[in-house]
Amino acid sequence: MKGVLLAGGTGSRLHPLTRITNKHLLPIYDRPMINWSIEAAVRAGVTDIMLVSGGHHAGEFLRLLGNGHEFGIDRLSYGYQEKPGGIAEALGLAERFAGGEPVLVMLADNVMEHSIKPMVDAFRDHPVGGRILLTPVEEDEHLRHLGVPTFDDGGKVVGIVEKPEHPQSKFGVTGIYCYDNSVFDVIKTLVPSGRGELEITDVNNHYIGLGLMAYDVLDGFWGDAGESIDAYYTVNDYVRNHGANKD
Ligand code: G1P
Repeated sequence: MKGVLLAGGTGSRLHPLTRITNKHLLPIYDRPMINWSIEAAVRAGVTDIMLVSGGHHAGEFLRLLGNGHEFGIDRLSYGYQEKPGGIAEALGLAERFAGGEPVLVMLADNVMEHSIKPMVDAFRDHPVGGRILLTPVEEDEHLRHLGVPTFDDGGKVVGIVEKPEHPQSKFGVTGIYCYDNSVFDVIKTLVPSGRGELEITDVNNHYIGLGLMAYDVLDGFWGDAGESIDAYYTVNDYVRNHGANKD
């Protein structure tokens, strides 16, 4: 399984900090944000990684990470998204890198208390369709910033709504996904959403429609450090006090 870390976007929700650097290079406790995602991937046994960034500061990732060996990466490739066209478009840039293999996809502003290895191992055992990682979220105000799944009576996910006005469950879709290699064909069928982006939620709904979507529920803390300046500090405080990516 290969890893695709998505570290592009304009980071507009963290302006003006992100005028002078890429969001994923801002510190989370004692290291740049991106390093926590790398650690999560490497601890899940994914060491052949492509980092997709964009914007004016992409070169800084090379200065930070080099060939990645220092961080446990076996082979590090770089991709560049020429304009912010959405998460699914950025993932599409990794098609040749994936070379027919399944992929672990991570939004590099997501930070977890616990290792994602159980999810990745589950997908390795059954590498068909997609697998998403859900997190319990209590507040509707928070859910309105996320993808939110709807379940049937049997607990199966029947659909995901991106940033719903009226959330239909108390779970958010985190930015950690596993897909088989058909994902690159699915991306080619997408049309831009209202915000002008190719949405990862549309990819997920495609697999849900085919009955090929599994999910895990994350245990412990999860934060999207790019969601708002308050979320950024919540993640910082959490990681400083408790660490991240623990077994
Ligand atoms: C993205 C996804 C959303 C997901 C979130 C997790 O949102 O579109 O479904 O819940 O990441 O971090 P964005 O951060 O692009 O608004």
